[in-house]
Amino acid sequence: MTGPSDTSGPFDKLVGDAQAEFDRAESKPLREAWLGLDLPAIRIDLAGRLRAAGIDEAEIETRHLLTHVLAPASLAQALADPALVSWQTVAHLADLTWERLKRKPLSQVLGNQPFWTLDLIVTGDVLTPRADTETLVDAVLDARKDAVLDVLDLGTGSGAILLALLSERPGWRGVGVDVSPAALAIARHNAAACGLEARTGFVEGRWSAGLAEASFDIVVSNPPYIVSDVMASLDPEVRDFEPALALDGGADGLDAYRDILADLPRILRTGGLFACEIGYDQGEAVSALARGAGLDGVRVLADLAGQDRVVIGYNS
Ligand SMILES: C[S@@+](CC[C@H](N)C(=O)[O-])C[C@H]1O[C@@H](n2cnc3c(N)ncnc32)[C@H](O)[C@@H]1O
Repeated sequence: MTGPSDTSGPFDKLVGDAQAEFDRAESKPLREAWLGLDLPAIRIDLAGRLRAAGIDEAEIETRHLLTHVLAPASLAQALADPALVSWQTVAHLADLTWERLKRKPLSQVLGNQPFWTLDLIVTGDVLTPRADTETLVDAVLDARKDAVLDVLDLGTGSGAILLALLSERPGWRGVGVDVSPAALAIARHNAAACGLEARTGFVEGRWSAGLAEASFDIVVSNPPYIVSDVMASLDPEVRDFEPALALDGGADGLDAYRDILADLPRILRTGGLFACEIGYDQGEAVSALARGAGLDGVRVLADLAGQDRVVIGYNS
């Protein structure tokens, strides 16, 4: 077979505009490698290339890449009947795979990431929301069931935590703060896409410093908490593609907690809840800072892997 208008078999012949586009593409070496292969063979080749690039979950990621380009057709159908798959689809798959082979995070390659029950837009301007952070969402929902509350999310990034909380509590309102205007643009976009625009506000600023008169029932944060010296040894997906501003917590990883907790008594209402994400080995240090800021009932909570992940406390 095949050219762009003939899709029944291995992808081995291109004509006219398709050939020109093929030649221009950055992923040309990959497209060339896939000429003469049908979709099942491309799938095996793709997974092998991801594995060879050091990507641990190569099979799972292969499935994500395939379902992304084949949607809404089902992957099983397309694998069984290559006639359903056009050369343009294979070229799109090659472009995405090419980016992933550079170790760009899958979330940034696909442009979205599931978090809680939401599907969030993700770019290189925000931290990709992590499953671990759902521990923080769970802890807050568990602790506070009041119908109407005001929530503040410091370092909101994609808006993940704030939007997950508001999606579960129809009467809650919230403000997300970030120092990055590019991150706030993504958070606003996500709030609108989740239908939560009317109950959210986003403010550019350094932690709570710009919130002059405001106070809140709940303050949450997943601040940067990685020790500066560790940054260079992170996986390339994180080190080279996620914003350092979202990761680097200073010499001991605790700079942001100190800044946030210093102003917390001013903005957290009496009886209010503070909950923040922490690194697995920061439970004791952040708990001590929280107690030092006057919080009571300070506790460390573990994530599903059993690692310390959240510190909570109350302004009583
Ligand atoms: C670890 S990311 C968390 C993003 C999101 N909340 C999440 O959990 O996926 C930390 C966020 O804090 C923001 N940030 C860093 N320094 C800040 C500061 N001084 N004031 C406000 N936000 C800051 C970063 O831009 C980044 O979006």
